[in-house]
Amino acid sequence: MMFPYLHPLLLMGVQLLLSCWTQAAPADPNHFFYHDFLNENGNSEIHFNGVKLYVESAQPSVFAVRGGNASLSCRYWYEPELSSQRKARVKWSWLPAAGGQEADVLVAVGSRSRSFGDFRSRVRLRQDFPGDATLIMTELQLNDTGRYRCEVVDGLEDKSALVDLELRGVVFPYQPPHGRYHLSFLEARQACEQQDSALATFEQLFQAWKEGLNWCNAGWLADGTVQYPITQPRVPCGGHGLAPGVRSYGRRYQHRHRYDVFCFSSSLRGKVYYLQHPLKLNLTEAQDACREDGAEIAKVGQLYTAWKLTGLDRCDAGWLADGVFRYPIARPRRNCGPSEPGVRSFGFPPPQHKHGVYCYKAVDELM
Ligand SMILES: *[C@@H]1O[C@H](CO)[C@@H](O)[C@H](O)[C@H]1NC(C)=O
Ligand SMILES: *[C@@H]1O[C@H](CO)[C@@H](O)[C@H](O)[C@H]1NC(C)=O
Ligand SMILES: *[C@@H]1O[C@H](CO)[C@@H](O)[C@H](O)[C@H]1NC(C)=O
Repeated sequence: MMFPYLHPLLLMGVQLLLSCWTQAAPADPNHFFYHDFLNENGNSEIHFNGVKLYVESAQPSVFAVRGGNASLSCRYWYEPELSSQRKARVKWSWLPAAGGQEADVLVAVGSRSRSFGDFRSRVRLRQDFPGDATLIMTELQLNDTGRYRCEVVDGLEDKSALVDLELRGVVFPYQPPHGRYHLSFLEARQACEQQDSALATFEQLFQAWKEGLNWCNAGWLADGTVQYPITQPRVPCGGHGLAPGVRSYGRRYQHRHRYDVFCFSSSLRGKVYYLQHPLKLNLTEAQDACREDGAEIAKVGQLYTAWKLTGLDRCDAGWLADGVFRYPIARPRRNCGPSEPGVRSFGFPPPQHKHGVYCYKAVDELM
């Protein structure tokens, strides 16, 4: 139905008329004059009849790094504009990328706010201008990723905007020293944590697949599913007939079933380096040599992160903390493994064998 030449006020009259006709079914709760009808009981909260609340995020997707800060943008305003400031209630909540329930992050009314759980003392509202509900997060953790909801409530009006938080980082497949397909879900989570990383989410694995991760062993993900990424279909990985993609075994029994794991790690507060040392070292000597250098033997997640985010490139294999033996190649060349960049792995040699070592030095000790 169109009323092309009517003055807006007349048009409102028509809408009012229409809503009277259709009163049996008040379909749209955001209808312009809805509050007028509701407000006959004089509910004091709703004294802005006909005014609409808007909530918007200028940046619905935010990339950050572990240990860094992030601003999740959110702003609200009223139309027509109000002459006086109102105290709306702002609530930020979080749907974890790892799956699970939505959790409260922060609730604020005016200048008072309260934050919850793991977010306590790590989040605040920016409030740089009227209607600014931007959430400032500090000391980001690997498991902070997911979908954040900025919800503004004023009287009966309740609007929200969504912001996705992702971390820049690297996904790597992990297999413990005792071999392939040995980890329950809980052990998989612990294995990632021991390598300075967290269970990867499906979005993180999917992104890694798009960037070329091609891995034929199935691993746990944060949501309790077991999957593996294939960019080059081949016989031992489901055959040539299947299209490239992230293949899923679906949700598995978390105690009974055993697989490898996909871990995710993001930026380091320090540096990974190949230790200059006159001798080749066995595993215990390698640990001691890093310690003598004011560092510690590097973890697998740290080597992957240094390779991916800072381009660490070294054609010498070295010990890592879990007894695995690897080297990182950012610029492929002859005699340094395959033609794609990657962290080359040689499995777990006997700990008495003598090799080089990669160490990790935390940032406070770099000075
Ligand atoms: C994060 O913000 C805090 C202040 O809120 C600041 O002290 C710190 O340097 C920031 N960290 C980074 C990595 O920018
Ligand atoms: C998130 O990670 C931090 C630090 O690694 C940990 O303390 C916290 O328990 C984790 N939170 C959840 C919900 O797993
Ligand atoms: C490494 O060598 C030292 C002697 O230099 C020895 O005491 C130690 O047991 C060896 N460690 C391993 C894991 O073989």
